[in-house]
Amino acid sequence: MARRPTRLRSRPFAEALLEWYDANKRDLPWRRTKDPYAIWLSEVMLQQTTVKAVEPRWRRFLQRWPTLRDLARAPLADVLHEWTGLGYYARARNMHRAAVQAGDALPCSYSELLKLPGLGEYTAAAVASIAHGERVPLVDANAGRVLARVYTIGEEINSAAGKKKLRAHAEALVPAARPGDFNQALMELGAMICTPRDPSCPICPVATECAAFRSATQAQYPCIKAKEKMSGVREAAVVLRDADQRVLVLLRGSSGSFANMWELPRVVVEKDEEPPDAAVRAMRELADLRVKCGRELLVVRHTVMRSNITLHVVEASCVRIRKTIVPSRHVEARWVSLGEWGRLPKSITQERVRKALQRLNEE
Ligand code: ADE
Repeated sequence: MARRPTRLRSRPFAEALLEWYDANKRDLPWRRTKDPYAIWLSEVMLQQTTVKAVEPRWRRFLQRWPTLRDLARAPLADVLHEWTGLGYYARARNMHRAAVQAGDALPCSYSELLKLPGLGEYTAAAVASIAHGERVPLVDANAGRVLARVYTIGEEINSAAGKKKLRAHAEALVPAARPGDFNQALMELGAMICTPRDPSCPICPVATECAAFRSATQAQYPCIKAKEKMSGVREAAVVLRDADQRVLVLLRGSSGSFANMWELPRVVVEKDEEPPDAAVRAMRELADLRVKCGRELLVVRHTVMRSNITLHVVEASCVRIRKTIVPSRHVEARWVSLGEWGRLPKSITQERVRKALQRLNEE
């Protein structure tokens, strides 16, 4: 008697997925080009930012720097400024470094792409498979969720063991023909059908291949570690104006978070401290200035990594203002109008503060 197959095999996974992708994929601008530089840019932007937010920014970036060479020749400060609002500025800094290092063109192969700064496994595989048709697997969070369900992977999805399994499955599935489309199709399926909650299994093209669907355990996959608790942090930022109503801003060095960005002097408020006292301390520690603290002008809340930050923006005055400030932890200090500060690279939170100060000035 013939043995019953342990899995119901309808059609090869890749074939069913690609057919679905061809009929249902979103019409995204970076899917209409084969330019490796433009594809690279889209993949870097998409790493922490939604498709909707990326679309206009991708077009604008390419209008400004249409080729890799244009990007390599651009001043880093301009690139960071262009990135304003997209967050995770290390991405822009690394792209610029990689463009300078790459010279005339990006390398074509996965292994050569991996050697460029900022190009990890994901980005190198995306460019190699989508732009050059190299058969390499690609696993982002969406593709990982699909695979974790299809193969009911019990390991935590972000653990080393979980990642290894996901990659091995992706490697086995990716076809030699159309690897780039296959990789995008897997991510697209995760984004559109195999969603984190309430996946649309009845219309999924690979439902018959999916172990979680067959055992009705979709909700149990992927296995994700319970979220670490968010911590709360208070910060104080200082608005100190000179006689011309310009504000003091400081430039961060070229490494660490918010590198090469201009910001108001700011410090973390200690446990037993109040924001105005922290503001006075900030000016002493960062700019060697003795200030008197004034009103709290605004409070801005934002999140960085796993911290909820409450930023208290406090006005300060100084009896004797020096024109030249020598900062202790920053690389430069400048007195600027709010308009001038607007043209300097800064984080999205500092931009929110700048705009709020502008509104207060207009009131
Ligand atoms: N997520 C990131 N890049 C993607 C792509 N090229 N297609 C689908 N989803 C993606």
